[in-house]
Amino acid sequence: MKEKLKELRERAISQIEAAQDPEKLNEIRVAFLGKKGELKNIMKGMKDLSPEERPQFGQMVNDAREAIENRLEEVGRAAEKRLMEKRLAAETIDVTLPGRQTEPGHLHPNSIALRELEKIFIGMGYEVVDGPEIEYDYYNFEALNIPDNHPAKDEQDTFYINDKILLRTQTSSVQIRMMEQGRLPIRMIAPGRVFRSDEVDATHSPSFHQVEGLVIDKGLTLADLKGTLDTFAKELFGEETKVKFRPHHFPFTEPSAEMDVSCFKCGGKGCRFCKGEGWIEILGCGMVHPHVLEMAGIDPKEYSGFAFSIGLERIALLKYEIDDMRLLYENDSRFLKQF
Ligand code: DAH
Repeated sequence: MKEKLKELRERAISQIEAAQDPEKLNEIRVAFLGKKGELKNIMKGMKDLSPEERPQFGQMVNDAREAIENRLEEVGRAAEKRLMEKRLAAETIDVTLPGRQTEPGHLHPNSIALRELEKIFIGMGYEVVDGPEIEYDYYNFEALNIPDNHPAKDEQDTFYINDKILLRTQTSSVQIRMMEQGRLPIRMIAPGRVFRSDEVDATHSPSFHQVEGLVIDKGLTLADLKGTLDTFAKELFGEETKVKFRPHHFPFTEPSAEMDVSCFKCGGKGCRFCKGEGWIEILGCGMVHPHVLEMAGIDPKEYSGFAFSIGLERIALLKYEIDDMRLLYENDSRFLKQF
């Protein structure tokens, strides 16, 4: 028995010394000192010893336990230390390394153009309002004096959701919503997305943006419209800019016009940019049709107004000399970061 105990003690110590990590040491602890461990097992043989031998053997068992425990403790502490050193080495931060660059975002050319337009109109006392992109046929067409047989209502141009609901084809719908609220006078711009069933090419997209304008007050005339839009054009394209109004037709304005600005590249002489014309078309406008006022609950004998609509992409393309509208929708950061 004594031999067995000696052998057990030596085996435990040599296993402990060979062990590298705390986990392995714990396994050894259980195997030798645990409730069902080897030391408990050997003590079962004590009953076969003579009464004189028992205390002596008991003492030997205690000594062995103590020796094993001490060794476990010492080797365990060293293993923990090694582990900690390894972890610290792995987590070292080299504060002298250069920082990682994060690339800042860029404003989209549309956003830059819109901010500029908003700034100009806010400066003239306009409020910026919003309207729904999913709209009733009534606000998009009917209330704007666009009868059922009008070509703009053709299904080829309009995305219909059902008979009465569609994706708005123009921000002019917001004019009606504002007039219906009846808070007069009105001086607003309504920027937003519009939708038309168009094929994509360099100048077309099924979804683009307009900035609608509407002013309603007592005694407004065509002179107010012209003065406002002239001021706007000069602020946007420069003091030397000239404007020209060409008669046009829109169902919801009478009279209606399209406005051209003198080419800000060549000053009006004619160049590649203005296709030799000297003029560039930038918006549609007109005096609000009395019937439209009436339908929205405003008395045309008392109030008059003017409206206009600027193509936002058109402004962005012109200002930044971008020749393909598709670039505005691809959102390639190499393109966007140039502006
Ligand atoms: N809504 C028209 C369109 O999308 C543009 C337009 C023209 C709007 C004249 C106006 C306006 O407010 O007065 O073609």
